[in-house]
Amino acid sequence: MIKLHDLYFKPFISEEEIDTAVQKMVDGIAEDLGDEVPVFIGILNGSFMLVSDFVKKYPKPCEVTFIKLASYEGVKSTEDIQRLIGLTQDLTGRTVVILEDIIDSGNTLAEVHRIFKNENVKQLLIATLFFKPEAYKKDFKLHYVGMEIPDKFIVGYGLDYNGLGRDLPNVYQLKTTQHMTNLVLFGPPGAGKGTQANFLKEKYDLIHISTGDVFRFNIKNETALGMLAKSYMDKGELVPDQVTIDMLSKEVEKNAGAKGFIFDGFPRTNAQAKALDVLMESKDSQIDAMVALEVDDEVLVNRLLERGKTSGRTDDADESIIRNRISLYYKKTAVLKNYYMDQDKYFGVDGVGSIEEITERLSKVIDNL
Ligand code: IMP
Ligand code: MG
Repeated sequence: MIKLHDLYFKPFISEEEIDTAVQKMVDGIAEDLGDEVPVFIGILNGSFMLVSDFVKKYPKPCEVTFIKLASYEGVKSTEDIQRLIGLTQDLTGRTVVILEDIIDSGNTLAEVHRIFKNENVKQLLIATLFFKPEAYKKDFKLHYVGMEIPDKFIVGYGLDYNGLGRDLPNVYQLKTTQHMTNLVLFGPPGAGKGTQANFLKEKYDLIHISTGDVFRFNIKNETALGMLAKSYMDKGELVPDQVTIDMLSKEVEKNAGAKGFIFDGFPRTNAQAKALDVLMESKDSQIDAMVALEVDDEVLVNRLLERGKTSGRTDDADESIIRNRISLYYKKTAVLKNYYMDQDKYFGVDGVGSIEEITERLSKVIDNL
């Protein structure tokens, strides 16, 4: 992922794929033109990289020149296209091939046609490396297209966002969701997860997604997914991961503008962790860290026994039940710890101390992500 000015972009087209597309254009044009010496005209600024690579690959003699037009400010097409640097060369009777980096609305292309109308060329051929069919509003024929791409803003390989990105050898696409910080929060029973989640969500403006709450909400409101989940639970079966993921996906969508999420109670298995990665990826985002509160067993047992005295929770009253819950937690989460460790995303945080101290330790991790 890269950041240009205020926006984030993700890798989209590799150098190798670009190379293949350029080669395809070269082959097509060389074959069609035979021994005729064409004049390749690049439209600056965006086409400089394409033209350079293109003519190096072109197998026969050719001429190369550039003209400069401007059509874009920021990421929006503007209607007022100007011819900035004109043609100085006589093109009468010549085969001219326009080399464009990208054709979007086709406004620039209309201008090119207007400019060349009076040049008495033998033929005017249009070649573009990238073409956005969904954005194209004109009828001009495109003779050679390297690659069709969706109507999303891209940078790299000559293309810029407000001046930046032209130098990149591969192409990046604007992310549909801008940068989020997404955490998986972990901790054994009694570690103070709920308390810390509340502080973190305030401090970093994150949405806390407690899987248990999401389940209860869906079942209580009898949503389609809630009913589906309930049908499994009523049969005493585990709710399939996909149902849970679909519920979480809805939660993420509900909060599309969020600065990030704290996932609590999910994932619990390797498969779920993978599914969560796929979900975040589909939202153009990612899990940044698994943050686990680490608290010594004896401290946990004492904390829970204390809590049991006032809360009346029966599972907090019996020491052997408590110890069993804790050991179960470690058994179940060991695989997840490994999963995130393998990606350098596991952060264990000392969960013993005052609430403020622990929040401070967690903040240090998050601030460094
Ligand atoms: P059109 O006139 O709308 O066809 O757009 C052509 C010009 O707009 C290109 O030469 C680029 O300068 C710019 N442009 C269009 N789409 C993109 C993009 O996705 N990224 C960067 N520049 C673009
Ligand atoms: Mg251009």
